[in-house]
Amino acid sequence: MSNIVSKNPTNLSDVIVELPAATSDEIVAAAKRAKAAQKAWAAMPAPARGRVIANVGRLVEANKELLAKLVTREMGKVYAEALGEVQEVIDTCDFFIGEGRRMYGQTVPSEMPNKNLFTFRMPVGSTLIITAGNFPAAVPSWYIVPALLTGNSVIWKPAEFTPAVATALTAIFHAGGVPKDILITLVAEGAATFEAMDKCLAQGLINKVGFTGSTEVGRKIGAKTGEYIQSACLELGGKNPMVVMPDANLDLVLDGALFAGFGTAGQRCTSLGTLWLHESIYDAFLARYAETVANAKVGDPMKDVLFGPMISEKYLENHLKHLAMIQKHHTVLGSTGVGRITKENPRAGFVGDPEAGVFAHPTIVAGITKDDELYATETFGPLVTVGKFKTIEEAIELSNGHGYGLSCAIYSSDPKTIWTYREGVSAGMMSVNNSTSGAEAHLPFGGNGKSGNGSRQSGVWVLDQFTRWQSLNWDWSGKLQKAQMDTVEVAHNPNFRIAE
Ligand code: UN1
Repeated sequence: MSNIVSKNPTNLSDVIVELPAATSDEIVAAAKRAKAAQKAWAAMPAPARGRVIANVGRLVEANKELLAKLVTREMGKVYAEALGEVQEVIDTCDFFIGEGRRMYGQTVPSEMPNKNLFTFRMPVGSTLIITAGNFPAAVPSWYIVPALLTGNSVIWKPAEFTPAVATALTAIFHAGGVPKDILITLVAEGAATFEAMDKCLAQGLINKVGFTGSTEVGRKIGAKTGEYIQSACLELGGKNPMVVMPDANLDLVLDGALFAGFGTAGQRCTSLGTLWLHESIYDAFLARYAETVANAKVGDPMKDVLFGPMISEKYLENHLKHLAMIQKHHTVLGSTGVGRITKENPRAGFVGDPEAGVFAHPTIVAGITKDDELYATETFGPLVTVGKFKTIEEAIELSNGHGYGLSCAIYSSDPKTIWTYREGVSAGMMSVNNSTSGAEAHLPFGGNGKSGNGSRQSGVWVLDQFTRWQSLNWDWSGKLQKAQMDTVEVAHNPNFRIAE
């Protein structure tokens, strides 16, 4: 049995926690407990479960700074962003407190007299939630909070990179009143989790899988759950375009492209992929962007910097692979080097000791075209590609051509251009004059194509992931009334015309 060791990516000598990885059998055993406990949880009135979520929200609020510090320490995002991430957990709880008193079904008129029709939301049952390391608290809460609120049990498999945040958040859920077997968190390797998922699906222990992570793994989870006639909730990769029209406010674009491209060291699924600049502003804006990125502070995430370390060495390795895709016709801008920041490969103005952690230079790769490998590769690191276009139609084609469809942005002041883009773009989420990242916690979150199978998280839309509609027809006429046959017909004259 291997151990999972979580290290601070700003200072690798700071070991945060070391714990044994759960085996596939342990995950299956936990799923049995969670399944056995679920019915009693579902029997509790939804408003009472809403009160539990309220308790959790208030506890997260009371622990906001402590939790945010742990997020920064374990995952490496800057502290201001970590506070934002914890706020997203609170917002999610706040939203679902009210849902406990709603969870509306409908009363629907029948086509026959003395008969009533209704719909009810039923919990799916027991769920398996597998989440990524880049949002160790907020994204898990998008699944866990609505899953619990609607009466499901949850097995949570957090990322191997952030077990301490997962442990802390789980303790808060339990302190808020969530029964121990209704939320079970297991830190495990991907392979053991997949094996356990298969067994659980075969034994009917899991009714819904939620997964945030790479398209590659999402495809496997989608295929496996499909074998068991289930559809997973998949939130996958993105190669999110930002289209800049000639009439854009370029100061706004600069702020947006800086945050979207390099915030969280580019490790958001909503991070900027390619910045598409209209040819008329390409040279001038690219120079401005490159200069701003070159002058931005990188380093210690507890200080005032644009971004801190990569989540772990594995993420840095991936970044290095993407750097190898840079071709001769590209221009590399944005820093005093590329790749890992070290004493030999320094970043001007670095804040802290780069060699203590896993830091990478911000990199702008200009001159990207549709045929480049980088055009269609999600880079998930501090790497932004930049290309040019002539018309909005071409911008739409470039935005969609790689098959991802998570987030996108357009900067323009012309409504016709903006609506044309909205109609043509395949992304699930679009920003106008705003960053590709930073979605609010109560709009539908999710993507299409390689970014997801159409499932949506957040707001009321996620309810369809964790509940199933049950319809009820109740005939109190005292006789068998046959639908479509014993319906009421009103006599009418189809030939009637008014006088000329
Ligand atoms: C993710 O990277 O998986 O919209 C989620 C955003 C954040 C969530 C990102 N609120 O950028």
